[in-house]
Amino acid sequence: MKKTFTLKSFKSKPLNGLINVPSDKSISIRSLIISSVCIGNTKIFNLLESDDVINTLKVLRKLKIKIQKKTYYYEVFGQGGFFSDPENSLDFGNSGTAVRLMAGLLSTSEINATLTGDKSLSSRPMERIISPLRKMNISINDCNGLLPINILRDSKTHIPIKYKLNIGSAQVKSSILLAALNVKGTSKIIEKIPSRDHTEIMLKYLGARIKKQKNTISLTSPNFLKPKDLIIPGDFSSAAFIIIAVLLSKKSKVKIKDVGLNFFRTGLLDVLKKMNAKISITNKKKFNGESVGDIEVKSSNLTSTTVNKNIVPRLIDEYPILFVAASFASGTSKFLGLKELKIKESNRLNSMAKALSDSGVKLNLGDDFIEISGRLSQLGGNLVRTENDHRVAMSMLIFGFFSKKPIVIDDMKMIKTSFPGFKDVFNNLGAKIEYVQKF
Ligand code: S3P
Repeated sequence: MKKTFTLKSFKSKPLNGLINVPSDKSISIRSLIISSVCIGNTKIFNLLESDDVINTLKVLRKLKIKIQKKTYYYEVFGQGGFFSDPENSLDFGNSGTAVRLMAGLLSTSEINATLTGDKSLSSRPMERIISPLRKMNISINDCNGLLPINILRDSKTHIPIKYKLNIGSAQVKSSILLAALNVKGTSKIIEKIPSRDHTEIMLKYLGARIKKQKNTISLTSPNFLKPKDLIIPGDFSSAAFIIIAVLLSKKSKVKIKDVGLNFFRTGLLDVLKKMNAKISITNKKKFNGESVGDIEVKSSNLTSTTVNKNIVPRLIDEYPILFVAASFASGTSKFLGLKELKIKESNRLNSMAKALSDSGVKLNLGDDFIEISGRLSQLGGNLVRTENDHRVAMSMLIFGFFSKKPIVIDDMKMIKTSFPGFKDVFNNLGAKIEYVQKF
């Protein structure tokens, strides 16, 4: 029988060093998709080579977009919005961002295509994009709000949309914006709860007629996007694992270089500052309109906090690792308004609550909130059910740096959807994560 391996994390030594984290997943996916609709060739530097991004690239190739890997960059041969019907269905693997953005773009692109994904993606809600897209008079079939989605070529005239977006979702917003690229006239999205604006920033950088006034985003089409070099910054969501591991470690100091600092991604920094974290930002600059900088983190004595609903979209992917920080902070932390956390790669509220309480953390779980009682020493020693969720897996491995007993995760393969090299990055800083044979 073939041996399969997973990861085990042990008590950590001090973490020290100067490092880069893997490139931003959200921006990498957008860079491929948006450069495919440019007129001409785009060079993308530092593209994240993770499963979610490579699946996006493969999908674009199936739509007959030429993409070449060169020594220092990827080159995308944009076709100004023309795609060919794919021979088979388009498999987006685990990526909610890629499937939702591409569904929007393809829905107004006059092609026939079927969009599918893995088991986790196939259980995630698609109604949130299908409903606004249908208002643009497109032809789309779905399985009761789930994948697979069929996009159908039709002779109908697509119409611009004015849409009030009541959830804080960048995927829904971006799906509508990419659909609107092909629809003559001005489409408007009124964002009730603002979310990451990578799509707006990239479209504007490449010459789209897009603007934001108060909470209304307007896009006027047609658009003729001109290629420019794109540099992908480090992923703040990957940096978050390092930030919290360093804060909780003794005698530690790490600088993370060139991390994306988009305002709508960095709510974690605001929360951690309230928790007494020693974090500073230097070397601020811009990459293709995106804010970027170096993050320096030092060991800190974290205190508990209350995190309210209004910051959720700025913090959405960082809750799992923030729950780990709260587990080792002094006092009880409260996290409110977590409905959206339940429809991520797993039900992250439940997966994390189960993993933490199995590891000895005292907590109180509600329908959309969690209270975590922190203390310096937690038990650990358990096998974590990751529910096929990369952020649950990485968060709990970091938990194992500080618990009395090591942590083993049930599966490691999903980590590479966002953070290839996770084990080596941490081990090079001084941590101990080892391969162990699966039971
Ligand atoms: C993302 C948006 C967020 C986030 C996801 C990436 C994006 O999802 O959780 O990891 O790149 O647009 P929602 O739009 O569903 O909140």
